[in-house]
Amino acid sequence: MVRLEFNFCEGNDFASFFDRYESRLKDAYDKVLDFSGEGSEFLGWQTLPSHVDEGELAEIERRADEVRDKADVLVVIGIGGSYLGARAVIEALNPNFPLKSYSCNPQIIYAGENLSEEYMADLTEYLAERDYCLCVISKSGTTTEPAIAFRILRSELEKKYGPEEARQRIIAITDSSKGALRRLVRENSYASFVIRDDIGGRYSVLTPVGLFPIAVAGYDIRKLLSGARAMREALVSCGDFSNIAWQYAAFRNCQYDEGRKMEAFVVYQPSLQYFSRWWQQLFGETEGKAFKGLCPVSLLNTTDLHSMGQYIQQGERIMFETVLSVERSKRRVSIPEVKDDADGLNYLCDKSMQQINLIAESATREAHLEGGVPQMRVVVDKIDEYELGALIYFFEFSCALSAYVLGVNPFDQPGVENYKRNMFAMLGKK
Ligand code: PA5
Repeated sequence: MVRLEFNFCEGNDFASFFDRYESRLKDAYDKVLDFSGEGSEFLGWQTLPSHVDEGELAEIERRADEVRDKADVLVVIGIGGSYLGARAVIEALNPNFPLKSYSCNPQIIYAGENLSEEYMADLTEYLAERDYCLCVISKSGTTTEPAIAFRILRSELEKKYGPEEARQRIIAITDSSKGALRRLVRENSYASFVIRDDIGGRYSVLTPVGLFPIAVAGYDIRKLLSGARAMREALVSCGDFSNIAWQYAAFRNCQYDEGRKMEAFVVYQPSLQYFSRWWQQLFGETEGKAFKGLCPVSLLNTTDLHSMGQYIQQGERIMFETVLSVERSKRRVSIPEVKDDADGLNYLCDKSMQQINLIAESATREAHLEGGVPQMRVVVDKIDEYELGALIYFFEFSCALSAYVLGVNPFDQPGVENYKRNMFAMLGKK
C-alpha cells in the first residue's frame, strides 16, 4: 500500500507547519466528505469506489471482450480528462515493448488529443492494414479535437467495413442526454456508456471513461477499483494528520506559502510517464486559477537529471519534488561480469538495474536536499492494478483537499474556454 516519506530542508519540518494548516485542512476535509464546498456538485468521484454499479461493470467487461475478439487495435478518441487516466494506467501496466505473451491483447492507440495533420495521416494509414474499433470519449460531446478525429476516423471505418459493420465497431462514452456525441449515439444506435453529471473529466478515470479502454487492454478493472476502495476507506476514516492526504495537502501548501511555486512530480520508470501527465493535468486544472496555485511539472529520471537536473540543483529556489518511488521491479536484469573490465563496471556486477535505479534516486534526493529542494516520496511496493487504483484515489482526494486549502473551486476550469473562444472566432464558427 501507498506510504509517504518526507525530507525537509533545514528549518522546515512537519512540526513547524502542522499548527498552521490544521484548521484549514479540517475545514477542507469536511467539505470533501460532506459535499459542502464550492463545486460539490462534481464530487461524485469521492464515493465512487465504494458504490460500484455491478451491472455497468459487467457490461463494460462484456463490451470489452467483444472488442478484444474482433480488433487488433482500439483507437481511444478523447482529450484531457477524457483520455489521460486510461493512458496512464494502460502504459503503466503494458510492457515497454510489445512482447509475444501480450500479443493476444489489442493495441490501444490514441487520437483526438492533438490537431496534427501528420499524426492523423499516419494513423489512418496504419489503421488501413489492421482490424480496429473506435472508442470516442467526450463528456460535453462537443470538444473540437476529438470531434474532428471522430469524424475522420468514422468515415475511414465506414469505408473499410461498410456502414452496418462500422456502426458495430463504435463505442461512445458521453453525457446521458446532452451534446452532439449523444445525438450521434441516438441517431446511429452506437453502443454507449454514460459519464455521470457529478463527475468531471479529470476525476473520471474510475468511470467507464477509464475502465472501458483499460478492460480492452486486458487489465483487471475490479482490482483497480478495489485498490481505490481500500484507499478511500483509509482516507475517509481519519480526520487528522495521520491521514496521508492531509500530509500531502499540508506539505504542498506549506511549500507554496514559503515561495516554492513549482512542484516537480518525478518518476524513475518510463512506463509511468503518462501517470505523471495525468497527475499534472489533475493538479494543474484543479488548482491553477484566481492567479494562484502551484505549477505542476512532470519529470522522468534519470533522463531528466541530464536536462533539468542542473536547474533543480542550482537554479532559482522555486521548486520542491514529489517522487513516485516503486520498490520492486517486475523484471530482472543484472550487469554481466566481463573479463577485461575495460569500462570499469565490474564493481556493479552484484547489483540488479533496479537496485542501481533506487540508489540513483537516493543519491539525487540527498543532492537536491543539500541544494535546498525539499522532497516527498510516495512509495509503493510495485505497480499493478491494485496499487494504481490506490494511487489514483489518493491523488484525487489530496488534490481536492489541497485546492480547498488554497481557496479555489477544485472542479471548474474556466480558463480553458479562452483559447476555444479565440479559435472558434478565427475559424469562423457561426
Ligand atoms: O478535466 C476536464 O474537465 C477536462 O480536461 C476535460 O476532460 C477535457 O477538456 C475534455 O472534455 P470533454 O470530455 O467534454 O471532451
